[in-house]
Amino acid sequence: MSSEHLLLRALQGKPVPRPPVWAMRQAGRWDPKFRELRAERDFYSFATDSQLAAQASLLPARFGVDAIILFYDITTLAQAMGVAFQMQAGGPVPVAPTTSMSQVRQLSEEPDADRFASVLDTLSAVRQALQDASGRKRLPILVFAGAPFTLASYCLGTGKDITATCRFARENQDVFAALLDKLESATIHFVRTLLRQGADAWQLFDSWAGGLPADDYARWALPYHQRIFAAIPEAPGILFVKECPYLDWLVASGARAVSLGVTHDLRTARQRYPNVVFQGNVDSRVLRDGQPLDVIEVARACVQAGGKSNHIVNLNHGVDPRTPVENFAAFVATVRGCES
Ligand code: CP3
Repeated sequence: MSSEHLLLRALQGKPVPRPPVWAMRQAGRWDPKFRELRAERDFYSFATDSQLAAQASLLPARFGVDAIILFYDITTLAQAMGVAFQMQAGGPVPVAPTTSMSQVRQLSEEPDADRFASVLDTLSAVRQALQDASGRKRLPILVFAGAPFTLASYCLGTGKDITATCRFARENQDVFAALLDKLESATIHFVRTLLRQGADAWQLFDSWAGGLPADDYARWALPYHQRIFAAIPEAPGILFVKECPYLDWLVASGARAVSLGVTHDLRTARQRYPNVVFQGNVDSRVLRDGQPLDVIEVARACVQAGGKSNHIVNLNHGVDPRTPVENFAAFVATVRGCES
């Protein structure tokens, strides 16, 4: 077996003895060690403390995941561009919503690296911690960004309320398009900077675009995905759109791998697109509500449905904060046990 990491082999469509496994929000409140580290700290002061963020990023390694996703937030890039956020119970809220053309013009489309220095410092600390005696990384490092539609919804202050985001977009088409364009340039710049600093792969989160009607998705999601994936050829990128009904458009994005939710049957998607690398699609609710035996069953079924090659095992969405630790452990161990 080559010394190349399982995740990177899988992303290139190379044969693997088992699919790699990791989870969105694998570093999060479901993990008692994360809660201990986070304590009562404010989210952004925690996430921008690179030593703490590096420790949080590395916590899931003890379960045997095949990738470390760097700890920050999709709003970290918007902050670097000039939008200040506060973390509230439902998610990030802008201190002053970006709703006018003059505000959009003030945003930086290529923020200086010192505006996101804490992410670069976290990356460097995680790289160092993952280095083994021969200088090789023990696990690959994933970085990520929000896609323009989803990140714009946080800059506007509408968040996951897609109806409110669409209303703003219809009533202020020029401002919305200018905001999306700025976010597109900044995203490309941000991801490429992190890849130059040693990240191995990346994921684009357009979490809320899956709720868009087809004509809006074709305007505000797909063309941005296509331009962003085309502009970052140096490392494999994964596209995640939460429970997206538009499978053909996910594939048409140009992403190296497409994350699937439970809206799609993995076996059917695999038959339709034999050469596409799919990520997913264990239901995060089974990890939240089930017993370890239920988790073992769904994880095995997922490996069967998605196959061993061209497949990365993951959940349909982030690990739910109410997930018992033994269920997360069972999820990872089951996939690791599928080796042949
Ligand atoms: O382990 C990892 O996946 C890495 C870290 C990570 C965070 N946010 C840290 C975080 C990642 C990949 C994200 C992405 C993110 N952030 C998305 C896309 C993924 C998705 O969930 O669809 C979105 C939409 C956001 C915006 C955001 N940040 C929301 C809506 C919330 C609140 C909801 C919640 O889960 O509490 C956050 C806060 C946040 N970002 C937390 C974490 C671990 C939880 C806050 C906490 O620790 O108190």
